[in-house]
Amino acid sequence: MKVTVSRKAHFNAAHRLYRKDWDDEKNRLIFGKCSNPNFHGHNYELIVSVTGEIDEETGYVMDIKILKEIIKSEVEEAFDHKNLNLEVPEFEALNPTAENIAVVIYDKIRPKLKPNLNLEITLFETPRNFVSYSGK
Ligand code: NI
Repeated sequence: MKVTVSRKAHFNAAHRLYRKDWDDEKNRLIFGKCSNPNFHGHNYELIVSVTGEIDEETGYVMDIKILKEIIKSEVEEAFDHKNLNLEVPEFEALNPTAENIAVVIYDKIRPKLKPNLNLEITLFETPRNFVSYSGK
């Protein structure tokens, strides 16, 4: 019997979508307004879901207080009120699309969880646009 526990979090961050190896025109064509050289911000909403067996002793899949602390240290403190392109090392050479941000968040949280737990990241860039990644 597997159960999923989830924790919501959010962070505000600025980004710019572009490739250095493309000229401004091609960046504008592919990324539109998101390629604005002066950056722009999003209110990112994050859902971190952990799936596993219920521990017989505690009745928990995992202690959600611990999950909350992991999200705080790995995501909120690293990304909140930051310029992702300029201030977050993971995006130095990686376009900070919602897809890539979700993968980076997954890769930061995954090693903090017990190996028998499954992890899924859902990241809302806007209330209507969201991506999810579960390591596959
Ligand atoms: Ni954007």
